[in-house]
Amino acid sequence: MTLKPIFDAIEKSAHRIRDAITNEDLCYSEQCNATGDMQLKLDIQSDLIIAEEFSKISAIKAIASEEKEEAEILHENGKYMIAYDPLDGSSLIDVNLSVGSIFGIYDGEFQAKKMLASVYVVYGPRLEMVTAYKGSVRHFIFRHGKFMEQETIKLKEKGKLNAPGGTQQHWPKHHKQMVDSLFNEGYRLRYSGGMVPDLHQILLKGGGLFSYPGTTDKPEGKLRKLFEVFPFAFVYETAGGKAIDNKGHRLLELPCDDPHETTPCFFGSKYEISKVKEAYGV
Ligand code: F6P
Repeated sequence: MTLKPIFDAIEKSAHRIRDAITNEDLCYSEQCNATGDMQLKLDIQSDLIIAEEFSKISAIKAIASEEKEEAEILHENGKYMIAYDPLDGSSLIDVNLSVGSIFGIYDGEFQAKKMLASVYVVYGPRLEMVTAYKGSVRHFIFRHGKFMEQETIKLKEKGKLNAPGGTQQHWPKHHKQMVDSLFNEGYRLRYSGGMVPDLHQILLKGGGLFSYPGTTDKPEGKLRKLFEVFPFAFVYETAGGKAIDNKGHRLLELPCDDPHETTPCFFGSKYEISKVKEAYGV
């Protein structure tokens, strides 16, 4: 069975979400709307769009979304399970920064070791899509009515960008030292606060480090395993990079007991991840 229908459904959702972002009222409560109508927040709208497109595919057994408490069964006899964040970084829309949708496609179980493919969409000045499947990371840019494939994405051994997440005030000391040591080596700060564009930038510019540590206020980090961490770990590893937690474990080996579980996470090229391990003593 091929994943093509699932990739096509993601493409269709991407167009509909891009339309919603462009044309809908910017509104962060269900009540506020210039015309006085009830209006759904963009992230809820995006969730409904994706669920509707996926419900048409009988090979999909269940979906789990960042917007839903529990996973939802779509087709009992389906094979694939998809976890997605419909509109990651949605609070950046009011300042017109890039946002994204993230998808992890699993074989029968929402566990990292069962991941078959992952996909993300970037809604920026352009519409872009990246897929990690069967050993390659493919990059598509929407132009003249269709997604045109670009060069395959490969990370270099060492990059130049540093994207440190979370509140510095709450970082552990060794984390701060690690971040500073990269800056002292000449790394440049690139952090928008949107996981999709921030990780996309590091991938396309050849490498660097994105980190979201465990902090004093959030010891297990902020980013969700199923909707954010596992899909990007799959992309980074497929592109030749590394993705680990604060204990040095591969993110793709971590268990997931609850759809909304979080973990500290580090994504980067090989050199930066070796620096993280050194600083964390793992
Ligand atoms: O999980 C939502 C999110 O907006 C991610 O897209 C982003 O990487 C992270 O939160 C930013 O968090 P912080 O502002 O704490 O660095």
